[in-house]
Amino acid sequence: MALVILASLLLSASAAQTQGSFNLLSYNVAGLPELLSSGNPAVNTPLISPKLKPYNVIHVQEDFNFHAALYASDTHAFRTPTSGGAAIGSGLNTLSDFPYIDFERTKWNDCNLNEGDCLTPKGFTFMRVRVADGVWVDFYNLHTDAGSEAGDITARASNFAQVSSYIQKWSPGMPVVVMGDTNSRYTRAGDSESLHTILNMNGLSDAWVTNVRGGSFPASGAAALVCDFPFAAGTTQAQMVACEVVDKVLTRSSPAITFQKTTFTNENNAFVNSTGAPLSDHYPVSSVITWSLSSSIRLADPVGGPHGSPFNDIPAVLSGNAVPQTTTITLRGGNRLDAISYAVKYPNGTTSTVTHGGTGGMPSTLTLNSGERVTQVQACSGKFNDSTRVFFLSLLTDQGRTLQAGKTTSDCSTAMVPTDAGAGGAQWGLAAFWGRQGDEIDRVGAIWGVAS
Ligand SMILES: *[C@@H]1O[C@H](CO)[C@@H](O)[C@H](O)[C@H]1NC(C)=O
Ligand SMILES: *[C@@H]1O[C@H](CO)[C@@H](O)[C@H](O)[C@H]1NC(C)=O
Ligand SMILES: *[C@@H]1O[C@H](CO)[C@@H](O)[C@H](O)[C@H]1NC(C)=O
Repeated sequence: MALVILASLLLSASAAQTQGSFNLLSYNVAGLPELLSSGNPAVNTPLISPKLKPYNVIHVQEDFNFHAALYASDTHAFRTPTSGGAAIGSGLNTLSDFPYIDFERTKWNDCNLNEGDCLTPKGFTFMRVRVADGVWVDFYNLHTDAGSEAGDITARASNFAQVSSYIQKWSPGMPVVVMGDTNSRYTRAGDSESLHTILNMNGLSDAWVTNVRGGSFPASGAAALVCDFPFAAGTTQAQMVACEVVDKVLTRSSPAITFQKTTFTNENNAFVNSTGAPLSDHYPVSSVITWSLSSSIRLADPVGGPHGSPFNDIPAVLSGNAVPQTTTITLRGGNRLDAISYAVKYPNGTTSTVTHGGTGGMPSTLTLNSGERVTQVQACSGKFNDSTRVFFLSLLTDQGRTLQAGKTTSDCSTAMVPTDAGAGGAQWGLAAFWGRQGDEIDRVGAIWGVAS
């Protein structure tokens, strides 16, 4: 019996899932106090809650004073704690079937006084979601400044620029989903330019424009494509998405994870009361993302804590999917892991060295033989000075050699080289790292690669 179980475990390990899909929902739930709300949240929020179940990752906005009711009949395993009611919180929350790390709330630098934008700390949130083995996606939920006066359009341009610079710091090499209430339309001059800027600066695509409009953007300054509210009974899905909503889904792939298709659906029919009226003054929008994993670059789960600055070696080391040979690796450590450094050589002979962390600890170096690959990475984390850091890293090669630094703890995990076929039938090995760093290593994960 034990042998049968072991055999089936081995089988499932070798049949790595390299494609799949997940679905998203973005919904402004109009949860302001009754007097300020444009909806009827006391009655409607309890009706919204049980309807959230079918969606894997949900971004809500204006989740202020009826937050407990929103979560009450929901069963998502991973949900952000509220940041407070109106005047205190941002109204942004995420409900997810998948675990996440590195959650942060950021307040906008600019707001325009009308529409109550400056009365509560509106902004955006960031989190790194583990959708499946190897499928880590950076999620941004946002609610930009409201209104259509010049001051609002200027504040929104600033809001978008603020998200863009965060994406550029946090998400190099990562797939991204930006989903929320943009208060913006491509048809509105000023907003159109801001939307195009965030798309172009970050390589994002708008799921509505791609799917519904065949890639053709509404022109800036054109007549608004306003949706009827509510939709008349019998309105078809095609009619519901022909108009433009300010609730948008923007996505991009990464070298490790390709979003092959990203749909766009108006979920009005799923969020109405028993007489068919919408449960908020915004329509909910959903998207199904179909993904596939690269057969030459793959993320392993990271170990460590939410401190230090982010790093991801994909853009610098693996750009253009050119996976080099690793030639030497140096780890610095003492009581913890201080630094990681490695040298690579490309097929054209170019060499390059990458270093993360600080200068503490003692170095130890492994020079890899020709064709030798690191196939196992063990990391341990622990608390130091109230923050979680990487205490230990151990690398094992296919020739049975190891390199290690730091001290083990009781909290360790081991990442193994992928078991599905590498590009061109070649073998997987350690190619780079991702994580967070300061004067030590705060978080570290392997990036597996198939050398070209
Ligand atoms: C549904 O919502 C509409 C609009 O808020 C309201 O007029 C109607 O009474 C609601 N229906 C029920 C059964 O509560
Ligand atoms: C060699 O290849 C790497 C990876 O494609 C590239 O970044 C580098 O510029 C190339 N060097 C030369 C001298 O062509
Ligand atoms: C511990 O953390 C505090 C606050 O971040 C910092 O000021 C202090 O220098 C740290 N101590 C050590 C030993 O790193």
